[in-house]
Amino acid sequence: MVPRQRVVVAAAEVGRLMRVLVTGAGGQLGHDVVRVCTEAGDVVVACDRATLDLGDRDSVAQAITGSRPDVVVNAGAWTAVDDCEADPDRAWRINALGVRWVTDAARTAGAHVVHVSTDYVFDGTKPTPYVEWDEPNPTSAYGRSKLGGEREVDPACSIVRTAWVCGAHGHNMVKTVLALADRPELAFVDDQRGSPTFTADLAVAIRRLAVARLPGTYHVTNQGDTTWYGFVREILEAAGHDPGKVRPIRTDELDPPRAAPRPANSVLDNAALRLGGLPLLPHYREALGRLLAELGATP
Ligand SMILES: NC(=O)c1ccc[n+]([C@@H]2O[C@H](COP(=O)([O-])OP(=O)(O)OC[C@H]3O[C@@H](n4cnc5c(N)ncnc54)[C@H](OP(=O)(O)O)[C@@H]3O)[C@@H](O)[C@H]2O)c1
Repeated sequence: MVPRQRVVVAAAEVGRLMRVLVTGAGGQLGHDVVRVCTEAGDVVVACDRATLDLGDRDSVAQAITGSRPDVVVNAGAWTAVDDCEADPDRAWRINALGVRWVTDAARTAGAHVVHVSTDYVFDGTKPTPYVEWDEPNPTSAYGRSKLGGEREVDPACSIVRTAWVCGAHGHNMVKTVLALADRPELAFVDDQRGSPTFTADLAVAIRRLAVARLPGTYHVTNQGDTTWYGFVREILEAAGHDPGKVRPIRTDELDPPRAAPRPANSVLDNAALRLGGLPLLPHYREALGRLLAELGATP
């Protein structure tokens, strides 16, 4: 956990200052939630897996009730989608039961929970973007465990469903493509569609929901959508490489095939934000440019 510190800033600029506990603080989203809240002047208790293990009720209770936060952002999860197929019990334990422990401890502490979930709760067969009120129908062990987690939170909590997450810290498509950019040819699937979403923007939206303690489910992604093939072309071009080196393939051409099925349509209509008059995240291309600049990968 990070030491308790209060940074004095103009409250009007940043909204109400809070004491925020972040689970999964070592992950790509957790890292940026910690950064955004710290920069806003919040007192942040950053818990990595060693200090708060979602698979261990006592560890969760101790970390949360011991630090008495105003808000818990549950950014921790077992996110190894293909590995979840082989060990669904581990997925249930961390992604579903772990949320029960977080909810219970937060209730005791009087803390609002912002729980992070996923597009994988949907089967991806809908021809148009998914709204918050569409029926989930996960097709993978990971997706089923994350839906289980959604069902563990209290109605007053905020659930943030996001998709195709990229950040400066951790593994994601932008970093994969930059690492492969010198290869003569690349192949990426052109039959899975989604909205690349950048943790720097997502973390700001999460803090906004936390400050307002808004209840219910919110789809929160950067605006715009594309396929993985289209996204890879844009990453290559923005980083000064030849986008023509990437070839579109179908998911059923992947060799070896992935253990877990992916939704063909992962596009989330941010309907609750949009219809509620709340700010939407910028277009993913703008956010991609910022991330590439941060990574020093612009030409
Ligand atoms: N990545 C995506 O494309 C994507 C898409 C939609 C939704 N989401 C959701 O967004 C959230 C953040 O994902 P992310 O991309 O930041 O994933 P990530 O980089 O894998 O971060 C998840 C963090 O959770 C930690 N964790 C794993 N097991 C834990 C446990 N038992 N107790 C406590 N912490 C544990 C991991 O720690 P270790 O590294 O030590 O294992 C890691 O630091 C998750 O809820 C995920 O389901 C992600």
